Amino acid sequence: MARISARISARIGAIKESATLAVDAKAKALKAAGENVIGFGAGEPDFPTPDHIVEAAVAAARDPRFHRYTPTPGLPELREAIAHKTKRDSGYDCAPEQVLVTNGGKHAVYNTFQVLCDPGDEVLLPAPYWTSYPECITLGGGVPVVLPTTELAGFRVTVDQLEAARTNRTKVLLFVSPSNPTGAVYPPDEVEAIGRWAAEHDIWVVTDEIYEHLTYDGHVFSSIPTLVPEIADRCVVLNGVAKTYAMTGWRVGWMIGPRDVIGAATNLQSHSTSNVSNVAQAAALAAVRGDLEAVARMRDAFARRGRMMYEMLSNIPGVTCLEPQGAFYCFPSFEGVLGREIGGRTPNDTLELCEILLDVAKVAIVPGEAFGAPGYARLSFALGDDDLGEGVRRIADILS
Ligand SMILES: Cc1ncc(COP(=O)(O)O)c(C=O)c1O
Repeated sequence: MARISARISARIGAIKESATLAVDAKAKALKAAGENVIGFGAGEPDFPTPDHIVEAAVAAARDPRFHRYTPTPGLPELREAIAHKTKRDSGYDCAPEQVLVTNGGKHAVYNTFQVLCDPGDEVLLPAPYWTSYPECITLGGGVPVVLPTTELAGFRVTVDQLEAARTNRTKVLLFVSPSNPTGAVYPPDEVEAIGRWAAEHDIWVVTDEIYEHLTYDGHVFSSIPTLVPEIADRCVVLNGVAKTYAMTGWRVGWMIGPRDVIGAATNLQSHSTSNVSNVAQAAALAAVRGDLEAVARMRDAFARRGRMMYEMLSNIPGVTCLEPQGAFYCFPSFEGVLGREIGGRTPNDTLELCEILLDVAKVAIVPGEAFGAPGYARLSFALGDDDLGEGVRRIADILS
C-alpha cells in the first residue's frame, strides 16, 4: 500500500507565522483599504537609507561586475570592512575569514542554530525574546529553554538563573542587548559576568548585536567577546545593517564566529541562498565603511520619541512600562487593564486586547504572547512624532 504522507512536513508545519510581520501586514492591508491605521508593529526605522549608501548601490547596479555571483560568504572587501567596523564599534578583533555575509540578521540567526545544534541540545533563551529565536532554535534541532525575566528585574537574566537552568544538555546561551522586544540594556559588569559564567562551563554564546548603536540616557552597549576574550572560540556575533543604517529592506546581515563554524555555515548557505545580492552588498560596504553620523541623528530622534512614548504610556491607568534603554521599543504591561470592558468587549489576554485596539482604535501593536510574555505588548517608536503621539493617545482614550 502506498504510504500516505502529510502534505506539509511536521518540521515546517510546526512553525508559527512571525507575529510581528503578521501585525505589520494586517496594519498595511487595512491602510491600503483606506483605514486610518497607525502601525507600531514593525521594527524598522522610518528614516530613508542615507544618500551615499543608495548612490553606491546605484553605481553597482550600473556596473556589470556587480551583476554576477560573489563568493558565498560575501565580497572580500565587505568581509574585511565588517571585521574593521567590528573592531571600531565593539572592540572585538576578528579576521575577515571569520565573517559570513547573510541575507539579513535573521538569516544569520537561522544559519547559526543550524550549525550549532544537534537534536536535543538545549539553548538558554531569556524571555521576553525576539519572536524568531525559538523558531530558529527548533528548526536547528535545538530545544529552547525559556528563562523568564520580569519588568522589576529590568528584563535582565541573572547568572543565578542561568546556573539554575544549566544541565548536561545545555549547549548555547542566546544573548541580546539592547533587547528586542524589551528595550533593556545590560550594564558592562553583568555582560562580563554572564560571559565568564559561559566560558567557565564551556557554553557557547550567540550574541545578537544588531542594536549596538541604539542606546539612550547613559546606557552603553558592550560586547561579550570583547569583555571576555576567552569565549571567542565558542562565540557567534550576529549583526547587520538594517537598524543602524535604516536598511531593513536591503537584507544584509552577518555572523562572526570561529573558522569551523563560519566554514560550516558557508557550506549550508552555498546550498540554500548562495551569496547575498551583489548590489546590496555594495550598499552595505558603503554603509560600514562610512561614519556613524546618520545613526547618531537617528538615535537622537529615537531617544526623544522613546521618552515621549514611555511618558504617555505610563500615564495610562493600569499600564506600567520600563523606560526604554536601547533599541526602539516600549514593552508595557497591560495586566492592569485586562478583564475590563474595552471598546464594548472584555479582553482576557493581550492577544484579545491587541485585536480590540486594531479593530476599534485602529492601532496595531504586537501582543506579548509573540515574545513569550503574555500580559505585555510591544510598540515600536521608530515612527514619526505625529503618528506616535496620535497612536498612543488613541490607546489612552480607549483604555481610560
Ligand atoms: C534582535 C534582532 N535580531 C535580528 C534582527 C534581524 O534583522 P534583519 O533580518 O532585518 O537584518 C532583528 C530584526 O527585527 C532583531 O530585532
